[in-house]
Amino acid sequence: MCGIIARIGDGDGVQELLQGLSNLEYRGYDSAGLAVKQRNGSRPTVVKRQGNVSELRDLADGQMLGPIGIGHTRWSTHGPPTDDNAHPHTDESGRVAVVHNGIIDNYGELRERLAADGHEFRSDTDTEVVPHLVEEFLDAGYDAETAFRKTVDELSGSYALAMIVEGDDAVYATREGSPLVLGVADGCYYLASDVPAFLEYTDRVVYLDDGDMLVVTPDGYTLTDATGAVDEPVVETVSWNPEQAGKGAYDHYMLKEIYEQPQSLRQAIEGRVKPESNELDLEDFPPGTFEDVETIQFVACGTSYHAAKYAVQMCSNRQLSAQAFLASEYATSIPHVDENTLVVGVTQSGETADTLTALRKAQDAGAQTLAVTNVVGSTAARECDDALFIRAGPEIGVAATKTFSSQVVCLALFVEQYYRDRHDGEPSEGSDELLAAIRDLPDVIESVLEQTSVQSVAEAYRDVDSYFFIGRNTGYTVALEGALKFKEITYEHAEGFAAGELKHGPLALVTPSTPIIGIIDGLDSDKTIHSLAEAKTRGAPIIAVTSNPESVRDLADMVLDIPETNLELAGVVANVQLQLLSYHAAAMLSRPIDKPRNLAKSVTVE
Ligand code: F6R
Repeated sequence: MCGIIARIGDGDGVQELLQGLSNLEYRGYDSAGLAVKQRNGSRPTVVKRQGNVSELRDLADGQMLGPIGIGHTRWSTHGPPTDDNAHPHTDESGRVAVVHNGIIDNYGELRERLAADGHEFRSDTDTEVVPHLVEEFLDAGYDAETAFRKTVDELSGSYALAMIVEGDDAVYATREGSPLVLGVADGCYYLASDVPAFLEYTDRVVYLDDGDMLVVTPDGYTLTDATGAVDEPVVETVSWNPEQAGKGAYDHYMLKEIYEQPQSLRQAIEGRVKPESNELDLEDFPPGTFEDVETIQFVACGTSYHAAKYAVQMCSNRQLSAQAFLASEYATSIPHVDENTLVVGVTQSGETADTLTALRKAQDAGAQTLAVTNVVGSTAARECDDALFIRAGPEIGVAATKTFSSQVVCLALFVEQYYRDRHDGEPSEGSDELLAAIRDLPDVIESVLEQTSVQSVAEAYRDVDSYFFIGRNTGYTVALEGALKFKEITYEHAEGFAAGELKHGPLALVTPSTPIIGIIDGLDSDKTIHSLAEAKTRGAPIIAVTSNPESVRDLADMVLDIPETNLELAGVVANVQLQLLSYHAAAMLSRPIDKPRNLAKSVTVE
């Protein structure tokens, strides 16, 4: 959802800016641009174009040099992807260059006013009002910092902004509702929407809060809060390293991240379950933390919503009160909450606007809030009352994979603790088996990753263009997730259904040209097999994901094998096969797997 970067220090910064933009491309890849300047107050030079960062590199290489610069990779909101709509945007004279992530809600009225004052606009974007406003204040005699502050005072909406101007050697930046983090290296500073942009150069970071204003020069930086008071920055060290954020020997980030799951799950579990006693240790959540919680409302989007639904099934299996809501729907019409309601935002990035709005509304209505997220320092982690980190490491592929399994496992531990807190510390029925299976899960997934049968399934149905996924209980949420992943990266039609619902309507769509992928292992698996039989009778090819191929011997055309595991965890294991199925089907169709069309990883607009 647009990535911004800035760099200021010694030496030429163009290659670092370009590399930073490549690292941020998962946030948007419609168009890209740079503005770079020399020291001694020179005027910025801008290069920008429709297309991805490698196309920008071709344009910028050899043409641009300079130690101070800003850059942008775009996911279009206002105006189609064109050269003119690409960032940075400038004022008319070319003194001011600005990059922006977010949406300026009042840009229409600002643009009208500026146009009436004689400003000519070259793009359709909301962003372009910013350099024109700055220009007005510069013309009125204000210095660059004051002009930037006065401009920001006029904006409403969400934004992370970085600006360079002719006349001084500084980068000006601020945020409101969109992420922005400062990287502090020796003799050099970086600003970016996300840490992987500059992780090669520094792991020391300052996370900005909404309303913060930064003025960065080659010699240091000043952070002020929304009132203009100088803030003492908190410099933190991130635990991610550049190798984790790179693609390694894999063709795609998605495949690398699928294969990282044994390791990311080990990290998620580490220290959180005591092996002998099965006591839980969820860091900031000692036993009893959730004893007053009478009901849980999960809010999330996309894949994270499926993880939330998975957790709700686990709550229902224990007669715990919980519901999952699509965050955008929740925010539109918030249900009743009170101080005994815990609203849990499940969000890999911690920056998804719909989820943040839902959490804020819940907080305003008096609920307790908890973020389940991968990103320390993210907005969700900082705004919620508490945060449970899933420790998956950086996920760059737009399609979420390893973060889903880590979310489910962390939520499973959380659900067990919630149960114990509500039952005087008593574990739930079968908790020993569940926790043992969680400890074994990394090895179980490793064995799935060693199989190659999934490639032949993808090959067998490569000419098909409609797929249905079915499952029951936690398997239903995995059916939804399997279908989302499949449509997202193959561009083929795919739908997930509750197995029992097939006969209540969707069966009308089933033909010999619609393979049905059934997630069998789980509660009431015999009923799921009946649903598959109903589809088979209508001629549909059947692909069964199961640890018991014998149970579908006369039914399944193809089987994706999984090892036997705890019934509530089988969905996570089956999902790894479905991730691989999507990946190989998309690879056979030569899709741009890490950057599916029209999508971005971090969706920071509602
Ligand atoms: C799908 C996918 C998206 C995200 C959704 C929420 O593969 O990645 O559906 O799950 O945009 O993102 P987060 O978890 O960052 O809130």
